Amino acid sequence: MRLIQAAQQRAEHLSQINRLGRELSSTFDPETIYRLMCASLLNFFPDVEAIIISRFEAGSSRSTRPILFHDGLEEDVSKIPAIPLEPPGRGSQSEAIHTRQPVLINDYGAFRQAMHSGQGSSGAEVIQSAIYAPMLAKDTVLGVLNLQHRRRNRFDEADGELLTWIANTSAIALHNAELFQQTQKKVAQQQALRMIDMAITASMDLGVTLDVLLQRVVQIQDVAAAAILLANPETLTLRFTAGRGFRTDMIERTYLHIGEGLAGRVALERRIIRADSPAELAHHWTGDPFYEAEGFCCYMAVPLIAKGQVQGVLEIFDRKPFPGDDDWLAFLEVIGGQAAVAVDNGRLLADLQRSNTNLSLAYDNTIEGWSRALDLRDKETEGHTLRVTEMTVRLARAAGLPEREIVHIRRGALLHDIGKMGVPDHILLKPEALTDEEWVIMKQHTTHAYELLSPIAFLRPALDIPYCHHEKWDGSGYPRGLKGEEIPFPARLFALADVWDALTSDRPYRKAWSKERALQHITSQSGTHFDPRAVELFLAEAFTGEMEQPSTSS
Ligand code: C2E
Ligand code: SIN
Ligand code: SIN
Ligand code: FE
Ligand code: FE
Repeated sequence: MRLIQAAQQRAEHLSQINRLGRELSSTFDPETIYRLMCASLLNFFPDVEAIIISRFEAGSSRSTRPILFHDGLEEDVSKIPAIPLEPPGRGSQSEAIHTRQPVLINDYGAFRQAMHSGQGSSGAEVIQSAIYAPMLAKDTVLGVLNLQHRRRNRFDEADGELLTWIANTSAIALHNAELFQQTQKKVAQQQALRMIDMAITASMDLGVTLDVLLQRVVQIQDVAAAAILLANPETLTLRFTAGRGFRTDMIERTYLHIGEGLAGRVALERRIIRADSPAELAHHWTGDPFYEAEGFCCYMAVPLIAKGQVQGVLEIFDRKPFPGDDDWLAFLEVIGGQAAVAVDNGRLLADLQRSNTNLSLAYDNTIEGWSRALDLRDKETEGHTLRVTEMTVRLARAAGLPEREIVHIRRGALLHDIGKMGVPDHILLKPEALTDEEWVIMKQHTTHAYELLSPIAFLRPALDIPYCHHEKWDGSGYPRGLKGEEIPFPARLFALADVWDALTSDRPYRKAWSKERALQHITSQSGTHFDPRAVELFLAEAFTGEMEQPSTSS
């Protein structure tokens, strides 16, 4: 009968442990695991005085963190009188760890005397029996599970066996939960780094990059706020550039000399400096103590070094102590390295863009100057160049050409007759028809343009129009007799603008034609002189009224 009962009880225990195992495997949260453990323990041992789960801190075999449960689960754990942990190397907890076996104590009074430690706390005085079981997972002791009772001889071997089952099942769940959390953290860190990398390469704007970076720092490092101060190598100062997580805008006023204040020292000494309490902060802070208004209690600053230069300082602030484990610090250093690279890239890019803009502006000014000089030389075509340029750009837009090509088209149109610099006045300004010899020289203005412009790298993409604007669709043009689509499209568009403007203007060799006559001429030349598609674009533009040019009869 006793045997049957014992067997039934054992089966019942097993099924409960099974259920606990199932429940534990459905969570990766240690707090939930502790609660499930306690619920199950109270189920088996409803009369215990206390359940103590002692966990070793991750990665450390020195310290243990007791998690106490007492009189049910609802009670605030922090109010339970602390039962002192035994010193390492002595006592039942150590014995359980080292033997990896449950340890039973049936008479605490006698035990305490044996250990010469009569000064137990009042909470401990009432405890007469205890049982300890190591929590083993993957051959590692993660902690010790301990039950305490007021009555002597409360626990027996069978309880030890039961407790071992629960301790080990829970240990495996805890181990998995921790692995999972570590993996999550690693994945999140890697994602953060990839995001930052992408922001660095994709963004032209340093402000945007630093903002993404700080957003990640705050999120992954789990700190309240972060800021970047950029170093100015000329003035040897640090100035606020980007910030996240601040309640006030006081950080934005940060402006320090290198060597001054905490961040200034970080930049000078090229090492991380931290202040882990308001007192430390107050001691080292030189400026406006805005950390008080923000409620920050700790601070850390990381130098941003790229190419051997301090680019700035990454500051992090928190309203609780920093996590501060090795992983956390290592990631902060990696992020600091990335920030430095981002700042360095951003600066290079900004310099490059600035010098490019300057160069383009300088060239465009020069080009416009040249084109005005050309128009001036032939007084009666004054304004011709600007008008045909404007018209060509409009045709190019109507044709759907991208703006990056239109930049070159514009320059080409402005310079289209630059080759006329090589045509002597007596030919250029001749008031009548040209002779055959004069025509040979006049036609050279296109090849002159090619010779003049092709050595200038900046203007190479703008060559199509100066070189090819007198080519004709049917192949009868000059200088090369190109035909149809052999003629660059911008030059085909430009030819319409050029001829239209020439015909409707006075020339040394003839008076301006009427618009009707000019239009008729252009239409009649579609497919011979002009690309029919270009003519269609031109007519569409002309009939919207936008093409109407002011009369040029002077
Ligand atoms: P441009 O005066 O700027 O004329 C540009 C283009 O417009 C000409 O290229 C031509 O295709 C068209 N065009 C201009 N006026 C007339 C015209 O009265 N009738 C027709 N059918 N088309 C006209 P093109 O012919 O290759 O001439 C290039 C440049 O040679 C002209 O530039 C102008 O500077 C000069 N040129 C052309 N014909 C004469 C001329 O009879 N006497 C003088 N002195 N120069 C001329
Ligand atoms: C700062 O790092 O933001 C200011 C440091 C100081 O004033 O000491
Ligand atoms: C050039 O050959 O570079 C001038 C434009 C063209 O005819 O393609
Ligand atoms: Fe020309
Ligand atoms: Fe022209």
